Order: sequence, then structure tokens, then C-alpha cells
Amino acid sequence: MPAFPCTVAAGNETLRIDLGERSYPLLIGAGLLGDPASFDAVPRSASALVVSNTTVAPLYAEALLGLLRQRHARVELLVLPDGEEHKHWATLNLVFDALLTQGADRKTVLYALGGGVVGDMTGFAAASYMRGVAFVQLPTSLLAQVDSSVGGKTGINHPRGKNMVGAFHQPLAVIADLDVLATLPERELRAGLAEVIKYGPIADAEFFTWVERNLDALLERDALALKHAVRRSCEIKAAVVGRDERESGLRAILNFGHTFGHAIEAGLGYGKWLHGEAVGCGMVMAAELSVQLGLLPAHDARRLTTLIQRAGLPVRAPALDSARWLELMRLDKKADAGEIRFVLVDAIGHAVVRGAPDADVRSVLERCCA
Ligand code: NAD
Ligand code: GLY
Repeated sequence: MPAFPCTVAAGNETLRIDLGERSYPLLIGAGLLGDPASFDAVPRSASALVVSNTTVAPLYAEALLGLLRQRHARVELLVLPDGEEHKHWATLNLVFDALLTQGADRKTVLYALGGGVVGDMTGFAAASYMRGVAFVQLPTSLLAQVDSSVGGKTGINHPRGKNMVGAFHQPLAVIADLDVLATLPERELRAGLAEVIKYGPIADAEFFTWVERNLDALLERDALALKHAVRRSCEIKAAVVGRDERESGLRAILNFGHTFGHAIEAGLGYGKWLHGEAVGCGMVMAAELSVQLGLLPAHDARRLTTLIQRAGLPVRAPALDSARWLELMRLDKKADAGEIRFVLVDAIGHAVVRGAPDADVRSVLERCCA
């Protein structure tokens, strides 16, 4: 049985993120970016800005601009440099420059066409431009379709900490066109699978087993398997965000693997390991810590590690020294008065958020680091 209620009617590929007046549809399917009906939730306005990057824009922007010109009198395209290492103030400022050059007003709609980096930065620009304008998420990576485009977390990195500067700002709609996954590089597909795998341990044991059984189909980009993975991931995320939009409690479980993972990304320098790779390894470490604290049977941690390894993701962490690990993890947004709070699992399908003695964390670091 699913651990969270399914909010989608049978055969319908539109989920709803239920957040009162900030509710919005999440469309999942094939051919969505070429279908004007996908954009029904977006008001017609005089101007729009499509934000993309040097990789995704040449693939998908032209057709999209043609379609959006039926909805907005003036549609401009901004192409950002590609990569996690560009997710910072200077790149964000390019969005504000483009909006001001275009004469964008409060009714201008931003469209984020790309992976999580473009989505997080465009969302943050939309949250801040003229104190908030509307935006639409058009996620093109698997990771963005199953996680980052949903739930309204937006922001940029700081050299000292991942996603440290940002805002909650919900999109008007999320349009996840599965067709675009065909051009996603293999390494990025695998990175996206880390966030798919994440949902099983924290919320849905049955989905975890489904991913174990269907991992090969997912790696082969089987259309039905990808559709199920995106849909179930989004259902779980929608249920969590619907209950705790601003992460006052439950939503923290979506950060399973991220306390260790964010330390890997910031510690090595953004862009060395992909976000999904760091999260995959971080989940191995969080499962080891769960075992160390006597919460999780060792065989469940082995099941998770095996799955992450089968997905082609790293399971050995980089060799940062333990003082550096602890320093980086104390900057995690879940930390409370200097105490690091970890998302741990006490069974496949159930997460707990709590602190851990430094000695146990050091022991895990010794076992997990290369
Ligand atoms: P990304 O945005 O860097 O995209 C991955 C790579 O794939 C990029 O090179 C991109 O140009 C390319 N790409 C994307 N779609 C493509 C396509 N269809 N065809 C060919 N190439 C394509 O990285 P990501 O993995 O999508 O997202 C990671 C980011 O998301 C991180 O910054 C992370 O912090 C953030 N994130 C945010 C949330 C949230 O809730 N806001 C959740 C998870 C992750
Ligand atoms: N990816 C974590 C969250 O959305 O809360």
C-alpha cells in the first residue's frame, strides 16, 4: 500500500499540489511542451521571459518560444551558462538584467526551461523581481521532474554552503514532458535516479521494491517505467509539501542523504560531483549512521547501498577530513543551535529526523570515506 494518499485519478496525468491559494497543477506525460493546452493555468500577459541554459536552449527553446508567443505578446529568451558552479549571484543577476532590459512588469511570467539549476535560479528571480512575479517550471532533467521543480524551494549556492540563499515561491504550474528525457546524458539520468530512490526509504517501502525491480528498465529509459517513477515521486513529494510547505517539520525528510551530500558538493567545490551523485552517496552514509545508532537493521542499509550502486552512483565518499565534514554539516539548514540534525531511516519506508553524537558520525565517516 502507498504510504501517502494518491491524489491523482486513474488514467489522469495531472497531479495537484494542494497549497490553498498557492495550489497548482503538475502535468506529467509525453508531448506536453508542444501542446498549448499544457499552459492553460498560465494567464495571458504582455510579456514573458524564458530562462534556459547553453545546453537545453538549443534543443527545446525555439519550439517553446513559438508556442508561448500565442499567449504573450513579447517573449524573450535568456540563455545562462550551464552548470552547478554558475548557481550564484552573478548568474542570477543576469536574469534581473534581462527582465529590466525587457521592461518586464509585475505581470511578466518567467519560464524555467532546464534542470534544477535553471529551475532554482529562475524561481528565485521570480520570487524577488518586483517582490514577486509568476513563474512556470518546465523541468527537463529527471532530477528536476521528480524533485526540484515541485514544492517551491528556490535559491542559489554560497561558496560556504549549498542552497544557502533563497526563498519559498511556488510556480503557477509544473509541466514535466517525459519526451525531453531522451536527450539527457547518461550520467545525469543516473543522478536523477538518486532522488527517485530517495522516496522509497523515507516514505514508501512498496515503491522502493518497485525501483529495485525496475531499475534496469529505468536505466534503459523505458517510457512506462520513467512515467511511473516520475509520477510516484511527485505524488510523494506533493503529499509531503502539502502538509508542510515551509519545512517546519515533516518536509525535512525530503532531505534524506542531503546533509552528507551537500557537504560533499560544497567541500569538493560545486560541479565536481553532480547533486544526485552526492545525494546518492549521502543516502548510503545516512543509512550507515542509522545502523550505527541502532535504528536500522544492517541488511536494510545493504539493500539501499546495493540499489544506489546498481544505479551507477558513487557509494564511497570523498576523503575530506572529519573536522571539515562536521564544519560543513553544521551549516546545514536543518542544524539547530549548532547541532547537526540528520534525516535517518528506522525502516525502509519510514524516516526520522534527529541529532547524533559526533563520535558516531566520525565512525561513519571513517567507514564511508574513500
Ligand atoms: P542541472 O540543472 O545542472 O541539469 C543537469 C545537466 O543536464 C545540465 O548540464 C543540463 O543542462 C542538462 N540537461 C537538463 N535537461 C536536459 C535534457 N533534456 N537534455 C540534455 N541535457 C539536459 O542539474 P539537475 O540535476 O537537474 O538539478 C540539480 C540542482 O537542483 C541542484 O542545484 C540542486 O540543489 C537542485 N535541487 C533543488 C531542489 C528543490 O527543491 N528546489 C530539489 C533537488 C535539487
Ligand atoms: N528537495 C527537498 C525539498 O524540496 O524539500
